[in-house]
Order: sequence, then structure tokens, then C-alpha cells
Amino acid sequence: MSIETEKDLSSLMLVGKIVGLTLRKMKEHVRPGITTGELDDIGAEFLRQYGVRSAPMLVYNFPGTVCISVNDEAAHGIPGSRVIRQGDLVKLDITGELDGYYADAALTVPVLPVPPKKQKLCDCARSALSEAIGAARAGAPLNRIGAAAEADARRRGFRIVSDLTGHGVGRSIHEEPTVPNFYISHMRKPLTDGLVLAVEPHVTAGTGNVVTASDGWTIKTRDGSAVANFEHTIVVTKGRPIIVTAA
Ligand code: CO
Repeated sequence: MSIETEKDLSSLMLVGKIVGLTLRKMKEHVRPGITTGELDDIGAEFLRQYGVRSAPMLVYNFPGTVCISVNDEAAHGIPGSRVIRQGDLVKLDITGELDGYYADAALTVPVLPVPPKKQKLCDCARSALSEAIGAARAGAPLNRIGAAAEADARRRGFRIVSDLTGHGVGRSIHEEPTVPNFYISHMRKPLTDGLVLAVEPHVTAGTGNVVTASDGWTIKTRDGSAVANFEHTIVVTKGRPIIVTAA
């Protein structure tokens, strides 16, 4: 969507804030011994208190409230009986819906202590997102976002998972445009003031090729390499973007 009215902005900021706070709340509970299902319950209860619904559940019948993907699971992991262990990289991804507005955010929690390379991967996902957001400005070509994320990953010795992209968001879970996390020369359409985007680079130490697991949902790396991911929903402006899902 593109922000047209005060109500658009305030409604989007509200659902974004709740999504951000829910992720923060869940992060506090990530520790060895907890299951992904228990983490999902914590997130679901928090969202319920504010009347926020899980968009993947609502729109795609995803079998959970929060997508929880561990280590080599890159995205769309189904919460359940999996037990979190020391050294895991736990990715929590929420798209919330409130009053017809949608906000999407994710973070990676390293279950300490983690091996140095996993920590570096996690740091890279955070910095790649920050660089990508910094490149999003009204008038700039869309492909600058992906170029910034990719350059940061390369500089740190990692790769972008190219099959997982960001996207427009706001009035539904997935909207135009697609926002690749790497440079694609022809995607030069200028970003516009008020455009709402979910920016979500996924980085890995491996090849970056992914497959869908037998559960039909979970996207995993083919080579078993771990993945880290941070995501925010942003509003493009003439200056620095507004971060909708900051908590
Ligand atoms: Co997303």
C-alpha cells in the first residue's frame, strides 16, 4: 500500500508496534528446553490481548501464529514439539493484522553461547537489513535496496538466500512490489513517498539454495547451512524511512 491518510499511518503504526512488541516478548522466552510450540503460544496470547490476528493463519491457513524457523530452516517453520537447544539460531517471523492493516517483522535469536560463525551470520542479517533500509528512499530505484543488502552480506563473507524476497505490505500480507535482497539490474522503478515495504534479507554461509520440506511449509537450505534473518516493515519517505515495526 501507499500511505494516503493520517488514519492509514496511525493504523499501520499501531499494528506494527504490537508486532514489534510481540517479537520482543517472545525473544525474552527463547532458551534451551522451550519448544517452538510454547514460544508460539506466548506470541499468540500477546497478540490476542491487542486483537491482532496472525495473517499467515488468516490468509494462508498456516498451522501456527508465528513462523518459527531454526538453524537451516530459512522461513515458514511450523511451531510444534521441536525443543530449542543451546547454539540454535531461532528466527521468529510475525505478520499481524489489525483493522485491515498488516505489518510484518522478524528477528533472529542466537541461543547463547553460539559458535562465532553463527554469531557473525546473525550480526550480518541485522546489518544487511539496516543497510537495505538506509537505501530505501523516495526517488531511488527499487533495486538499490537489494544491492545494499547483498553488498553487506558479501563484505562479511555470506550470501543472500535469493529465493526469499521482501514485498509490499499494509492492506494485505503480500503486495506489489517484490523486493529482492540482491541486485537485479532491471528493477529500476523509483520508490515513491509513502510506499509500505517489508524488507527482509535472509543470509547464509552456504550456497543459498533452498527447498521446501516435506511438511509443505518449511523452507530449508539444501546444503544444511544456517540462515539468519531480520525484517522490518517500513514507510518510504524522502528522508530515512519510518520503521513501522520498531519496538
Ligand atoms: Co515478509
